[in-house]
Amino acid sequence: MGLTGLFLITFLIVHCGLNAMIFFNDGGDTFNHWAHFMGTNLIIRTMEIGLFLFLLLHIVQGLMLVSQNNAARPVKYAVNKAEKNSKWYSRSMGLLGTLILLFLVLHLYHFWVPSRMGGLGSIHALEETSLPSYAGQEAHNLYKEMLVVFQNNIVVVIIYVLGVFSLFWHLLHGFQSAFQTFGVNHKRYTPIINTIGVLYSVIICLLFASMPVAMYMGWVS
Ligand code: HEM
Repeated sequence: MGLTGLFLITFLIVHCGLNAMIFFNDGGDTFNHWAHFMGTNLIIRTMEIGLFLFLLLHIVQGLMLVSQNNAARPVKYAVNKAEKNSKWYSRSMGLLGTLILLFLVLHLYHFWVPSRMGGLGSIHALEETSLPSYAGQEAHNLYKEMLVVFQNNIVVVIIYVLGVFSLFWHLLHGFQSAFQTFGVNHKRYTPIINTIGVLYSVIICLLFASMPVAMYMGWVS
């Protein structure tokens, strides 16, 4: 779980960094350019297969861990001061992961399906004229797609913010837990890792949450 978790943590840095280009507020030019690069580069496309495999593996490992934990202690402790021994979000990783998975189903339907399936999955009926072209190649206008999804849809914006909120707590535990899995437990380094984990979770999730909000509010257009 630690290895697949760290891979997903790295993916989120790239994904968030790329998406943050919408804040250049240049009509999506920079963002679309790099999104097109990511969508057509052979190495990145190969890594995308790895990403989905790792995501699936991470979910399967999580389910196995929950069932192993339950099987190891079918009769619960008579006294279990859980709130004194651990944080609520450490004990709710399965629930938080499930909420993120539900968010991801909607999220992939919104963006990944139309951009990868082309006309077939074009559910938002983007006008053909809005397609940018790079090196003579027509590209899916992902920026416009984002505007269509978020601009007039408060329910979708709220679902995204809640999805990212679940992700925040999941990462807060997951980041330091991954390092612990690898046996990094050191008087000096563990507090540093924990601090980086908190900073990572706050920055990534604030940036992600600000994207649908900024588009809904018209801060980027
Ligand atoms: C909340 C703000 C977010 C926005 C605006 C956003 C936007 C996008 C867009 C535009 C794509 C399509 C990229 C492409 O097809 O080239 C995409 C793909 C994807 N997103 Fe997000 N995303 C957000 C948050 C998240 C979060 C929080 C996660 C994970 C927990 C996530 C996971 C993914 C995955 C797995 C893909 C498909 C991978 C790929 O395209 O290679 N996204 N997202």
